Amino acid sequence: MESIWTKTCSIPHRKPLQNDLETEVAVIGAGMAGILIAYLLQKAGKNVIVLDADRIASGQTKNTTAKITSQHDLIYANLIETFGTEKARQYAMANETAIEMYRNLIKNENIDCDFEETSAYIYAKDKNKLQAEVDAAVSLGLPASLTEQIPLPFENVYAVRFNNQAQFHPLKFIKHLSDNLEIYEKTPVLSVEEHLLKTPKATVTAEHIVFATHYPFINFPGLYFMRLHQDRSYVLALENAVPSDGMYLGNGEIIYSFRKYKNYLLFGGEGHRTGENKNGGRYDNLRNKAKELFPNAKEIAHWSAQDCIPADGIPYIGQYASAKPYWYVATGFQKWGMTSSMVSAMIIRDMICGKKNPYADVFDPQRFSMDAVEGIACEMKEATKTYIKRFFKLPEETASELPAGHGGIIEINGEKTGVYKDENGEIHTVDIRCPHLGCQLDWNPDEKSWDCPCHGSRFDFRGNLINNPAQINITIKKNEKSPRP
Ligand code: FES
Repeated sequence: MESIWTKTCSIPHRKPLQNDLETEVAVIGAGMAGILIAYLLQKAGKNVIVLDADRIASGQTKNTTAKITSQHDLIYANLIETFGTEKARQYAMANETAIEMYRNLIKNENIDCDFEETSAYIYAKDKNKLQAEVDAAVSLGLPASLTEQIPLPFENVYAVRFNNQAQFHPLKFIKHLSDNLEIYEKTPVLSVEEHLLKTPKATVTAEHIVFATHYPFINFPGLYFMRLHQDRSYVLALENAVPSDGMYLGNGEIIYSFRKYKNYLLFGGEGHRTGENKNGGRYDNLRNKAKELFPNAKEIAHWSAQDCIPADGIPYIGQYASAKPYWYVATGFQKWGMTSSMVSAMIIRDMICGKKNPYADVFDPQRFSMDAVEGIACEMKEATKTYIKRFFKLPEETASELPAGHGGIIEINGEKTGVYKDENGEIHTVDIRCPHLGCQLDWNPDEKSWDCPCHGSRFDFRGNLINNPAQINITIKKNEKSPRP
């Protein structure tokens, strides 16, 4: 599965780290956030290196729909109610500033990345809810209005429109930005102790360490596993579908995402919590809807994305934990990774350079609110349920019932085992215990992967790690005796 971005842009390879290094700042993760943080810090005169377990932009950056917007669903009325006007304004202005930073950076550096100014829309049938969001957004200084003029094939919908937003090609942008950065690929960070990072062949000693790894992989301190889960969603790139100007996301009964890229329409939806896709059919559902809405459309690419969802709806950007003042984190961007990455870069640059950032408070990872407490309780309940399931819930399938090309949990030698029967009938067996914190993995039939409902780690059917916070593969189980028929 290649996204439209990887099909249309490739980024030169970098070598793995071979020798010990000392630096002012080490950034872990070469996605959009990591690269922007490194770029702004280097511009501020800091000596920076970036380490990535895989390749530049090989994580979620290559799977984004690359909407650059401060319109993050219908949030502003709720932000004002929960956090107060001042914090809500910080959030709004941080994201508007991020858009401006992209605009200026792309113009000043003459970056050829298909950058387009456009409007963003949240569409829904509930006009009153949309009007409340417009009122809240306008009160914070955002360019919001209510409109009935939206070029989407749905009836009786209205939309909150934000003017002066943008979209681009994220890999073309990151390719340019990473050109002059010191980046080591295929260099997983195995451990971090105070200022020392260990990688397979060398160590890095850094005054400051930034975790820009999508989901933070150090559990203690920080406790991010109690405050984040992950969701998945799916995208089709369609030819011969009417490309609409603007970027769209539904709220309420119709939840589809639209944006155009050149002659293609990027059509997304079918979101769910990672690890909760037992019945599959997500791509088929999306294809059926695309056929209904755009009968002449032809699919030219499909892919999926994984988003980190914070307990109280606001990303965690700033100090990793109060016990580690020289560690920083940028995570929990939900579906809004482009502006959140730039906000992270601004805030973390200022923190490392000893400057006060006007937007930092609302994103402070050490914040406390009743929403956060409720969110944490919810995450803990979900994780506990999935953890316990591993011990008590008996497997429902047997090996003989598994059709070729399918997977499931069955009992082998008295133990629950993950089994995938490939198209040739060959059986692949894995331990279904997630190596992160031990929850039970579930089969994802759409992507032939083992996914963890607790915090969203994912593994292919051979047990290889696809998505963190787990850092290692799952154990392959030897098929010593025949599976129970
Ligand atoms: Fe945390 Fe699986 S991702 S237990």
